[in-house]
Amino acid sequence: RPNHDISSDVSTNSGPSSLPQSLSARRQLYERDFPVYKQPVEVGCFSLDSERRFFNDARQLRYYVEPERTPNFNLRDGYRDRYVKRDDSVKEGIDHILRWILANRSKLEQPGGAAASSLTCDLGVDFITWRGHLTKLLTTPYETQEGWLLAVTRLGGTLYMSEVETEAARRNRETRTERHEEMMYWGYKFEQYTCAAEPHGHPDAEGVVNTNEAFCTVVRTRLAGHRLLFSGEVDCREADPRAQPAPACYVELKTSAEICTPKQRCNLHRYKLLKWWAQSFLPGVPRVIAGFRDNDGIVVSVETFHTSKIPQLIKNEYNCWKPTVCMNFCSDFLSFARSVAREDNPRVVYLFSWEPHRDVTYSVHRDSQYSFLPEWYVREMAH
Ligand code: A3P
Ligand code: MG
Ligand code: MG
Repeated sequence: RPNHDISSDVSTNSGPSSLPQSLSARRQLYERDFPVYKQPVEVGCFSLDSERRFFNDARQLRYYVEPERTPNFNLRDGYRDRYVKRDDSVKEGIDHILRWILANRSKLEQPGGAAASSLTCDLGVDFITWRGHLTKLLTTPYETQEGWLLAVTRLGGTLYMSEVETEAARRNRETRTERHEEMMYWGYKFEQYTCAAEPHGHPDAEGVVNTNEAFCTVVRTRLAGHRLLFSGEVDCREADPRAQPAPACYVELKTSAEICTPKQRCNLHRYKLLKWWAQSFLPGVPRVIAGFRDNDGIVVSVETFHTSKIPQLIKNEYNCWKPTVCMNFCSDFLSFARSVAREDNPRVVYLFSWEPHRDVTYSVHRDSQYSFLPEWYVREMAH
């Protein structure tokens, strides 16, 4: 990838005055009717194996196994000797999604569709990205800690969106405490206790936890006027083969500190349920199953949260988050991005930047370190 991001590559955003230069993230501006959000449809899936290799199939899909009422899972078990951690300094961008698109182009291409650029085929979508990037957009009006950077490139009329790690996030990643490193393992260990590789198989708690492995769904949907195609990791599905078709059979697994006081429950509602709801609502995953653990990493109870019931559950909290604010902000950001990212060129990146208590702003970069569409993808899409 080219890496010559000298200052002359950077244009400040002083375009025509009709073009908005920034977007506010203030909650009050987004308290209107809930926008149209079409039922997400799974259009495919892919798997990443223990060495992070891509497969255009569901080989990594796992099956949910319901735990006992008081499971006593020890989430610390295996951290030292049976843990292979994905190298999170390797930035994959949206490459796996692009691989999936090339392998499934015929399913996507618009019959007789007129692409914005006659050189590139029309995929019939306005945005391609990771579900996790959309989750960050949904939670932005309520986020007070962490900002974000999103790189956007227009190709063949479609906007591709890939996250760039902020300086603060990199510092946090490089200076994690040993306790934090271990606690990041706990969520994956809980998955191992509650998932089997085969329908009606048994969990293998003696096995290795390898966080390179992933099963990802690819869904298509529409938010207001934005046709979206995104992919997200799915923890497991219901074991019953008669269960509803994907994504309705998918289950999201979570761990959280056990609830001992009303204040702790209030914090779960205000902060965690916002993230859990946003993550699962986007791809249409109906159930979140939470394992509550004590400070020694022992799971003491398990609770199911129905994604569609979370908004009602949190309404009792004073001054709580609102799903409509999340969705309207996301929709307005996507409109903003489309109005800004006009040039159809894989070498141009519009970098959108947000910090808590600030507006979303952007800068434009040509042939810079931020370019993220690989040559193999651009070349193949031109055919
Ligand atoms: P928990 O969320 O149960 O703690 P996911 O829940 O999205 O399937 O992610 C599985 C686990 O990955 C999480 O389990 C957590 O341990 C780890 N994880 C996910 N996102 C993370 C993040 N942004 N930072 C650190 N760890 C993360
Ligand atoms: Mg997961
Ligand atoms: Mg999970």
